[in-house]
Amino acid sequence: PLVGAFRNEPDTDWSLPHHAEWAQSIVEKWKPLCDGHATEIPLVLDGKELLADRKVRDCVDPSRPGVIVGRYRQASAEDVARAVECAANDPDGWRDLDPTERQTILKRVAQELRQARADLMGAAMANGGKVLTESDPEVSEAVDFAEFYAATARMWMEGVSPHLIAKGKGVVVVVSPWNFPIAIPCGGVVAALAAGNTVILKPASDAVLVAWEFCKCFWRAGVSRQTLQFVPCSGGTEGRALVQHPKVNAVILTGGTETALHMLRENPALPLSAETGGKNVTTVTALSDRDLAIKNVLHSAFSHAGQKCSATSLLLLEAEVYDDPQFKRALVEAAESLTIGSAWDLTPKMGPLIRPPSGDLENALQTLEPGESWALMPQRLEGNPHLWSPGIKWGVQSGSYTHLTEFFGPVLGVMRYEKLHEAIALVNQTGFGLTSGLESLDDREQTEWRAGIRAGNLYINRTTVGAIVLRQPFGGMGKSAFGPGIKAGGPNYVAQFMEFSETLPAT
Ligand code: ALA
Repeated sequence: PLVGAFRNEPDTDWSLPHHAEWAQSIVEKWKPLCDGHATEIPLVLDGKELLADRKVRDCVDPSRPGVIVGRYRQASAEDVARAVECAANDPDGWRDLDPTERQTILKRVAQELRQARADLMGAAMANGGKVLTESDPEVSEAVDFAEFYAATARMWMEGVSPHLIAKGKGVVVVVSPWNFPIAIPCGGVVAALAAGNTVILKPASDAVLVAWEFCKCFWRAGVSRQTLQFVPCSGGTEGRALVQHPKVNAVILTGGTETALHMLRENPALPLSAETGGKNVTTVTALSDRDLAIKNVLHSAFSHAGQKCSATSLLLLEAEVYDDPQFKRALVEAAESLTIGSAWDLTPKMGPLIRPPSGDLENALQTLEPGESWALMPQRLEGNPHLWSPGIKWGVQSGSYTHLTEFFGPVLGVMRYEKLHEAIALVNQTGFGLTSGLESLDDREQTEWRAGIRAGNLYINRTTVGAIVLRQPFGGMGKSAFGPGIKAGGPNYVAQFMEFSETLPAT
């Protein structure tokens, strides 16, 4: 019943004229705010804000390279040790609070996040290049996480059995990504807090300003600066010391598969709960609504310039669809029509990449493998190395780099298949298992596909991005998840950060 009362927070309805004006007001507030007035961002640890005598690092605006929007402080090894000691001592007594009181405070967090919607979106635009139609649902999701995890934690703590005692595990470190800089870190922080833990947030170095903006919501709501500490640090020595500290009881990571593997190589017993990468495939059969398929695939592949772990980056087309020149033309023309530009301009569908492409993404944007040709060649747009138009590679071969590698950018590979069971094998061959999409109106195909695909989130005749709390709990398997693999936004998520003891009645 506690969860039954939960309702998802609605996104902004952009068709209403006053919302369009509101969007403009976000730009008018945040763009000049960043021009020449970089926000000074302290470390927040042991209840204190620390600015002096620390390495200073810049937060930059990918829509306007060279514009510095914030300056944050990097924690030293001593800072990290002090943060963990503070979290372990829990001087504010968060762990022992009554679950109902914790829920009250977290409901206030949800309310603060609602009220800060415009500023959170402004910060994500400034420090993440995120267009408003992409950051708006992130705020809704962050609110959902706060409400939902607070309710589910109470359910676990009070509702399961009178003999069961549930408590927080202790200290949780949240290592968050830059691509969903509001929703994902808020989700980790609020889950750990709801379960009765103290939290240290190590925000992604590319989106520290956004993390700073939402942490203020937590502190304003009454979570103390000892219960939630804000500790940007390098991913090297200090980051390692933080996650591997013996007094840390759980680490929530959302990041690359390699990062998770690296952490586990250093300590195979690390209490890690990680959601990592994906090589997500949408399969389009001859029995699909092809117009709908194109619409869904484009959003799955190119929203936020493809920088989503959930993005479709491979399209499997049944032979009849692959060989249909009309389908290919319609797909390419639709991709060509996507507007690309600075997030501040409000009209672009695709904003900038967080960083100019390097590594696998640079390779994917610039090279073709045997059998491949560009159906749509990606172009670097004039004046900003972060801005790329979408690319579509035709003729991807089984077992190739384009088939098996996650690129995290605006490149979509297209492959031909004959039989659905072959398509299913090609999907599973990637070894990842996060999202997968099917475009088919046929029941039998849907049943076969659902039974065969190894992925955490299966979507039929809709996009592979944009999971919604409670309705579509999100998480993967294979190379996409490490640790217990419990889905975010589902009723069990908070329980992994609790310890349970059973008081057995006398016999
Ligand atoms: N939860 C995010 C999505 O579903 C990653 O797109």
